[in-house]
Amino acid sequence: MFDLTGRLALVTGAGQGIGAGVAKHLASQGAKVVVNDIVLDRAESTAEAIRSADGSAEGLAFDVTDREQVRDVLGPRDFDIVINNAGNAGAHRMEPRPFREMSPDQWASPIDVNLHGVMNTTHAVLPGMCERGFGRLITISSGAGVVGLGIGVAPYGAAKGGAISFMRHMAIENASLGVTANSVALGLMEMTEIHDEALVAKLASTVPCRRLGNGDDLGPAVVWLASNEASWVTGQTIQVNGGSVTS
Ligand SMILES: NC(=O)c1ccc[n+]([C@@H]2O[C@H](COP(=O)([O-])OP(=O)(O)OC[C@H]3O[C@@H](n4cnc5c(N)ncnc54)[C@H](O)[C@@H]3O)[C@@H](O)[C@H]2O)c1
Repeated sequence: MFDLTGRLALVTGAGQGIGAGVAKHLASQGAKVVVNDIVLDRAESTAEAIRSADGSAEGLAFDVTDREQVRDVLGPRDFDIVINNAGNAGAHRMEPRPFREMSPDQWASPIDVNLHGVMNTTHAVLPGMCERGFGRLITISSGAGVVGLGIGVAPYGAAKGGAISFMRHMAIENASLGVTANSVALGLMEMTEIHDEALVAKLASTVPCRRLGNGDDLGPAVVWLASNEASWVTGQTIQVNGGSVTS
């Protein structure tokens, strides 16, 4: 069950963090994984880790927000599975603050990577998926895209919610062509750049399961959505969040 042998998968922003975990899970189920990151060394490091575990992977650097680059790099390849994972504030650090205190240049980056990036990759791979009669589009979203939060991430939440909506439209437009489109709304996850144990413990205490999530929590959900067995699951938003209530 959930065998991905023979499938070609792309995971964007998979050079570290959650995406790296997802790439490893897809490879362990037999998929050949293209590991994307805007930073080549990161992409290659995840791909190397997969190969060391007898999986099949290659690193591929590109910027999901660069539509022409995405089209040129992805267009010629026959992807079966695309995981839109590149997110947060993109190549920049997230700087949470109330929206009324933001200038437009501070919201461009989260919108670009979390919404336009998803549209760019989808536009490049979808025609081929439809022609071949099989495709799995999976977007890694967030509770911030499902409910309002008072933590200064409104543009990020708007982009994450927009991407969820975009997946729903892709689901309906392409349902009869063998292509499914779903989102996963994540709760609080381990973050690569946070090493403050007291802060991690404080964040974890707010999660009903009392710990932050990681790529091993998300990976199996993505494998299922990517599988043949999930062919009747489309247009959905799966909540993977340790029990945090987001809807
Ligand atoms: N960490 C959390 O708590 C959390 C919670 C909910 C949702 N998410 C979502 O999960 C996903 C992964 O989060 P993470 O914390 O593992 O991310 P991360 O920031 O640790 O890693 C993301 C990777 O994406 C790459 N990247 C950034 N911009 C890119 C671009 N334009 N093109 C290609 N690659 C790019 C970065 O170089 C980085 O290696 C994101 O979509 C994020 O919004 C994370």
